[in-house]
Amino acid sequence: MTASTARKDGGRYADAVPNATFASVEELQQGLAAERYLADRGLATAIYLAVSLDKPLLLEGEAGVGKTEVAKALASLLDRELIRLQCYEGIDASQALYEWNYSKQLIAVRAMQDVTAETNVQDLFGPEFLVERPLLSAIRAGSRAVLLVDELDRADDEFEAFLLEILSEFAVTIPEIGRIAAEEPPVVVITSNRTRELHDALKRRCLYHWIDHPALDREMEIIRTRAPEVPEALARDVATAVMRIRGFDIAKRPGVAETIDWANAVAFLGVERLDEDTAMATLGAVLKDHDDQELATPRLAEVVGSDE
Ligand SMILES: Nc1ncnc2c1ncn2[C@@H]1O[C@H](COP(=O)(O)OP(=O)(O)O)[C@@H](O)[C@H]1O
Ligand SMILES: [Mg+2]
Repeated sequence: MTASTARKDGGRYADAVPNATFASVEELQQGLAAERYLADRGLATAIYLAVSLDKPLLLEGEAGVGKTEVAKALASLLDRELIRLQCYEGIDASQALYEWNYSKQLIAVRAMQDVTAETNVQDLFGPEFLVERPLLSAIRAGSRAVLLVDELDRADDEFEAFLLEILSEFAVTIPEIGRIAAEEPPVVVITSNRTRELHDALKRRCLYHWIDHPALDREMEIIRTRAPEVPEALARDVATAVMRIRGFDIAKRPGVAETIDWANAVAFLGVERLDEDTAMATLGAVLKDHDDQELATPRLAEVVGSDE
């Protein structure tokens, strides 16, 4: 992909120039912010390079740090279709790439038996019987799409190897139909919650970026961006409280979505500053594990306290 200057159109890169990329990291960062995604410089640089150099971007980090949202914001910014492949244990090629629509084929076979005309079994394996899954859609859409391979760590080794093959070619040969290849690869974002290590071979193909929980000021800004009705002082209280809770030895550290939910919940109650009682009453917005709640409850004074 060659770097060309994208024309801006109402804050979006609306023109469908396939090679359109960003003039600078800052421009990308501002574009994402306009999509209400606040990326720090490291992340913005990784995205910038991945888009400009046509490399898949592998994002790792704890649940809720904003990995999936990168792909959504980027698709929206580039004005491309977001094609999402959600991974899970046992996922295989037929769910990820394509499969044949057996029930439709069966109906067609029955219809064939009714007519006396010579029928061709090969007709049963034509495009109208093909069920397109996300990877095939992404191959077909090519540079008109952002492909999100979400939570790849949930899939098993074989699937990872299969994905690697697809990523290196962006083409597939369907025996009955032939070879389908992308003219230009889509932008690819892969996420992992790191419940297991991904393989080196896959990592070698990708640019890698680890996303941490945001720093206090950044998380405040995110609350202000995503929930503008939350007053600034309350946003600070909630972001501070969440930061402290994350420091506890709990099973599920709250993500950014929980921070936003908590701020929203407290603001909705009409409370202006986060105090211990309010924190107690709304704890379910931020901690969703009973043991974690029990651990945090006796420490709420410390969580909402005004100094460390
Ligand atoms: N940097 C960010 N800027 C704006 N919103 C964010 C950011 N990070 C996280 N969020 C918010 O947190 C939510 C959860 O993020 P998500 O991408 O689903 O997390 P992950 O995929 O890492 O589990 C998003 O829907 C978004 O509202
Ligand atoms: Mg996610």
